[in-house]
Amino acid sequence: MSCPERIGGNRTMSHANWKQYFDHKAETHGASVQSSDYFNEDSFFMQRDNTLRWLGPCSGLEILDAGCGVGAFSEPLVPHNHVYGVDFSEKSLEYAAGRGLHTSADDLTALSFGDGKFDVVVCIGVIQLIEQYRPVLKELARVTKPGGTLLIETLHSGSIQRKILRLFEQSKKFDRMYAMDELKQVFSQHGFERIEFLKMYHPFKFVSKGSEQGIGDPFCTSFAIKGVKKVD
Ligand SMILES: C[S@@+](CC[C@H](N)C(=O)[O-])C[C@H]1O[C@@H](n2cnc3c(N)ncnc32)[C@H](O)[C@@H]1O
Repeated sequence: MSCPERIGGNRTMSHANWKQYFDHKAETHGASVQSSDYFNEDSFFMQRDNTLRWLGPCSGLEILDAGCGVGAFSEPLVPHNHVYGVDFSEKSLEYAAGRGLHTSADDLTALSFGDGKFDVVVCIGVIQLIEQYRPVLKELARVTKPGGTLLIETLHSGSIQRKILRLFEQSKKFDRMYAMDELKQVFSQHGFERIEFLKMYHPFKFVSKGSEQGIGDPFCTSFAIKGVKKVD
């Protein structure tokens, strides 16, 4: 996924500006994955196909796609599950609804669902836009059922490729990046266990899986983390 451009030269964008930014993207690019800021379709399908395979078979489940954008990521889950999509970009949600998601325009810091509603919660490419991501993680953990799975995908702060890219893009782009350890700790704090990573290495189209940090990590550009919520 590419990095959204700054608005008005600010280092970060406020919630309202991100909403405007993604509404505008959806107005311009419609249902295309470009509305969700993917670099191109190849990059999108590489991420989606590997991530959904790693998530495992899903059938008859209540699934939340948190920050679903135009709904392209969770679309393959729609035929056999109840897939809910939440996003604050109403324009994007029109396309997500067209893909069969049950949509609601909410902020991820205050979801309108009850505790433990979902068997699976996915949140793809969203927390890198959010400076204070912990309240979002708390909400996602709250709506995950005990025994259910939370999967978050985001950018890796230790990536050599990203550090090099940043040298050239400093004046144009902003994205928050994450250390795997930090997210693992937050998952544990919220009662998740069996925590694993799926690591992606752009532009090499290579992925690897594991539960611990590895020697190839400096080349990992983005990663997904998943965990299972403990049953008391
Ligand atoms: C980069 S796009 C990713 C969309 C989708 N998950 C995908 O992978 O195709 C990020 C999405 O997160 C949404 N978003 C960002 N912050 C949000 C927030 N606080 N509440 C609700 N939606 C948010 C944006 O509107 C945008 O649609």
